[in-house]
Amino acid sequence: MRTHYCGHLRKEHNGETVTLYGWVDRRRDHGGVIFLDLRDRSGIVQVVSDPQRTPNSYELADSLRSEYVIKVTGRVTQRPEESLNPKIPTGEIEIYADQIELLNKVHKPLPFQVSVAETEQVREDLRLKYRYLDLRRERMTRNLLLRHQVVKAIRHFLEDEQGFVEVETPVLTRSTPEGARDYLVPSRVNPGEWFALPQSPQLFKQLLMVSGFDRYYQIARCFRDEDLRADRQPEFTQLDMEMSFMSLEEVLELNEALIAHIFKTVKGIELPRPFPRLTYAEAMARYGSDKPDTRYGLELVDVSDLMKESGFKVFSGAIAAGGIVKILPIPGGNDSISNVRIKPGGDLFNEATNAGAKGLAYIRVRDNGEIDTIGAIKDNLTEQQKQELLRRTGATAGHLLLFAAGATDIVNKTLDRLRQVIARQLGLIDESKINLLWITEFPMFEWNSEEQRLEALHHPFTAPPPDDIADLKTARAQAYDLVFNGYEVGGGSLRIYQREIQERVFETIGLSQEEAYNKFGFLLEAFEYGTPPHGGIAYGLDRLVMLLAGEESIRDVIAFPKTQQARCLLTGAPAVVDVKQMQELYVASTYKPKA
Ligand code: AMO
Repeated sequence: MRTHYCGHLRKEHNGETVTLYGWVDRRRDHGGVIFLDLRDRSGIVQVVSDPQRTPNSYELADSLRSEYVIKVTGRVTQRPEESLNPKIPTGEIEIYADQIELLNKVHKPLPFQVSVAETEQVREDLRLKYRYLDLRRERMTRNLLLRHQVVKAIRHFLEDEQGFVEVETPVLTRSTPEGARDYLVPSRVNPGEWFALPQSPQLFKQLLMVSGFDRYYQIARCFRDEDLRADRQPEFTQLDMEMSFMSLEEVLELNEALIAHIFKTVKGIELPRPFPRLTYAEAMARYGSDKPDTRYGLELVDVSDLMKESGFKVFSGAIAAGGIVKILPIPGGNDSISNVRIKPGGDLFNEATNAGAKGLAYIRVRDNGEIDTIGAIKDNLTEQQKQELLRRTGATAGHLLLFAAGATDIVNKTLDRLRQVIARQLGLIDESKINLLWITEFPMFEWNSEEQRLEALHHPFTAPPPDDIADLKTARAQAYDLVFNGYEVGGGSLRIYQREIQERVFETIGLSQEEAYNKFGFLLEAFEYGTPPHGGIAYGLDRLVMLLAGEESIRDVIAFPKTQQARCLLTGAPAVVDVKQMQELYVASTYKPKA
């Protein structure tokens, strides 16, 4: 019987006989004394065997290799002064192995070293293919245990302190309107018909409010077939919540308490509350983004009014076409950012054009205060305009001012990207900072230029504030996102609970009555039977854990994630299936592999 986990043993256990199970992390032979690092999920402890003190185990200990599975019974002994290891929690003791039992060997060469002592960078595809070995590694074990702690803290807070009830909602369902592509599942018993996997439990949680559950939550798997990035997976987990009879302020307050509870429990950090808030309009104006990283400054400055009359056609033309001109002022940028990087072919120039900008204009304020306008804007700014630009941007000696001009969304996207890249390169980000803020007052709709129609910015069940109901097209939404160090970790809204407004919203996004009924008739009908005012939020659990773990990819906090190409390298999914299986489902593939 196991008496302890390896990583839990301390000086206090000195003299006890313990039984441990685990994997051989490393074996070292120091002149006839064998040292084994024994590892289980809790950590590592040193096991010692030599012919004098532990004759029964010596021969076997000598034959062990990395990742063999063993059982050890032995005496906990305080280490001599010279061999204390302050780097590991068990570093003050070691186990004299009276008995070792070999439970299993490793029969093939390991694809990579698992040991904590190994610092080699293992290729991610190899890690994902042999994920079970990767998960044995200290960092991954730590991440998954942290994830477990976060979920436990969530459940405790919501259930025991706030009276939330967890309800499971279907995975085989109808399409939900979160705006990504659906994963579809053909129905065998209903030929020609398809289930969609849920992009979120949105509609069901609203129906649960109609049912009177009042406070619902779920750790819910969601599926979205969209382009993948480091913070996106095709299947991911939400902490999904919905509440009845609460004002927006009450919703935010409860959620701040939840987030604070998580930080306190898993990190021991007391978060200051209330969290800061920015309106969407303010966030876009100052940072060009609705998920700004506010751990550093580099705030944008709109100079459209100044540049409207400028002789520089790129600026005045952009404004005449309904666009804007904005500046990213970079203190010290005159020295740290060379012309090569901003001119065509340079990395910052490329960042800008990748975001849709046509180019980058700039001004240098030399160290002696001289204003150096470069390239085409050189002859097109009056002295007065230059002085006013410096005043507006707060620029002093050593500043670099980067300009973007054009359509508002492209200007914001360009400067947002540059702001982030430059902050990272200039080391302006204080990694120890935890920056949580709410973005509020989103617009209800944004223009989709491809489809030439308005679409819901959040989703079409979000309620406008009563003051904005008259003109829905320009209405704000009672929606909120939680941003954590520049990542959107959660988002939600108060919902529409009156059928008439819901129908008007559908109409505004160009959904005909018939289409609306076809898609969401069940919801509209439910609204007829006594629907309470309600609202909610969903957090990206993977993103939240990623940030708490200090990781840069959500793949590192998911046990079995997909690659950027939406593949599982471990199981080989997705894979072709038997034609017979497809026939039973009444489906056939139209895919023609390239010759
Ligand atoms: P939303 O679509 O904003 O809202 O999703 C909520 C949160 O889920 C996370 N997220 C993702 N995480 C990993 N991979 C993805 N592909 C992915 N997509 C989204 C984000 C995001 O903030 N039903 C609404 C919520 C509500 O209104 O209550 C919803 O799903 O962190």
